[in-house]
Amino acid sequence: PGDVGILALEVYFPPSCVRQDELEKHDGVSAGKYTAGLGQERLAFCTDVEDVISMSLTVVKNLLEKYSIAPEKVGRLEVGSETVIDKSKSIKTWLMRLFEESGNSDIQGVDSSNACYGGTAALINCLNWVESSGWDGRYGLVVAADSAVYAEGPARPSGGAGAVAMLIGPNAPFVIDRKYMGTHMSHTYDFYKPNLSSEYPVLDGRLSQKCYLMALDLCYNRYCQKYEKADGKPFSLQDVNYAVFHSPYNKLVQKSFARLVYNDIQRKTRPEDEKLKPFANISEDESYTNKDLEKATQDIAKPDYNLKVVPSTLIPKQVGNMYCAALYAALASLIHSKAEELLGNTILMFSYGSGLASSLFTIHVRQGDGLFRVANIAKRMEVSSSLESRVQVSPEDFVHTMELMETRYGAKGFTPVSDLARLRPGTFYLTQVDDLYRRFYDRL
Ligand code: ACO
Repeated sequence: PGDVGILALEVYFPPSCVRQDELEKHDGVSAGKYTAGLGQERLAFCTDVEDVISMSLTVVKNLLEKYSIAPEKVGRLEVGSETVIDKSKSIKTWLMRLFEESGNSDIQGVDSSNACYGGTAALINCLNWVESSGWDGRYGLVVAADSAVYAEGPARPSGGAGAVAMLIGPNAPFVIDRKYMGTHMSHTYDFYKPNLSSEYPVLDGRLSQKCYLMALDLCYNRYCQKYEKADGKPFSLQDVNYAVFHSPYNKLVQKSFARLVYNDIQRKTRPEDEKLKPFANISEDESYTNKDLEKATQDIAKPDYNLKVVPSTLIPKQVGNMYCAALYAALASLIHSKAEELLGNTILMFSYGSGLASSLFTIHVRQGDGLFRVANIAKRMEVSSSLESRVQVSPEDFVHTMELMETRYGAKGFTPVSDLARLRPGTFYLTQVDDLYRRFYDRL
């Protein structure tokens, strides 16, 4: 099969959100710390009627309905998530509920997990399947979903929640170019979840930023090397129309793009810049932490950032980190913002999961067929109305929900109490967790 990639995308995020400027006031931090400092506008979160399973059920069901995909046409379903509800039973097995009525249980794939990288691992698995001798002509389906919550403190405003479903197959409008994929994986303790009785991670925020940027450098340089070896010419940001990043918070995306510009200057694929003269002798290690260098590269990168990155930042800035879904929600934002203008374009994608696993690859955009045309995908995602119809709650309400969720994590024998009225029609929600920890869901 040719042109294997993403045939269609669907995004879901919970309707409850809190404004970051209100959160600044509530937390007693300096005005601008979360908005200008982290670059975030709002944070979406699950109340106790929603979780990673309900979000996954919602996003898959919506995708199947919007594109009239008969359930028996799906041959592989892979989930990427780091939100642990059950240490054995996969989220994928939950999603099989949506296929029961059709009688299709012949669906390969389970869950992949490594922090925010699971969605990319799931995507690679599906692409491998479609490109393999085992492919039976049916669709692959990738789900990337997480509820990103942090304990009270500086990391809390970098939370969020959401899910993305992607239909995978040949003749796709978003063709994934796998030839040059640059990958870097290593053992680090930047962000991890060793406390199995808590949903919150243990993290070293600064180290996670540095690991992210170092991984970006390594992946980019590996990609460039492979490209140059195969194509006999250097690769640079000039070869891409857009760059889409895993987005824990927007400031890190700004720094990441600036870092790639810095790489291009170092590699001499972009002209030198006066502003970088003072940093000519900086060590590589210091280059990750020197604030003046960071400022200078961000200044140089700004015009390109506005053109090549801003269109992908809409949902991540409005929703927050969605861990596995964050990169693909950024891609969805780009598709929403640019639609058919993307035809013929090349999109660079950077996926990062702490601990760590990272990959950089490119997507080529072509006109898809029928329902899978780019303009149709942009329309059917209904991004604007989903963002606009959200319910803005007070920081107190948000904190209260976080406290409630702490008592729900790993708990049994309860019925959720939060308001169903906020949920949009078609949303799955948790109705009960019984005394054997079995979970039950319904759809609005
Ligand atoms: N106005 C404008 N900017 C401000 C203000 C203000 N009033 N106050 C602070 N800032 C800026 C800071 O200068 C800083 O910007 P810089 O990074 O460009 O220097 C930014 O706001 C954040 O302020 P810090 O003091 O650095 O914030 P703090 O250390 O308290 O927390 C952190 C930030 C570490 C990112 C925290 O939110 C965190 O740990 N988040 C989770 C970790 C994370 O997401 N890592 C990313 C990769 S791994 C993953 O995806 C989970």
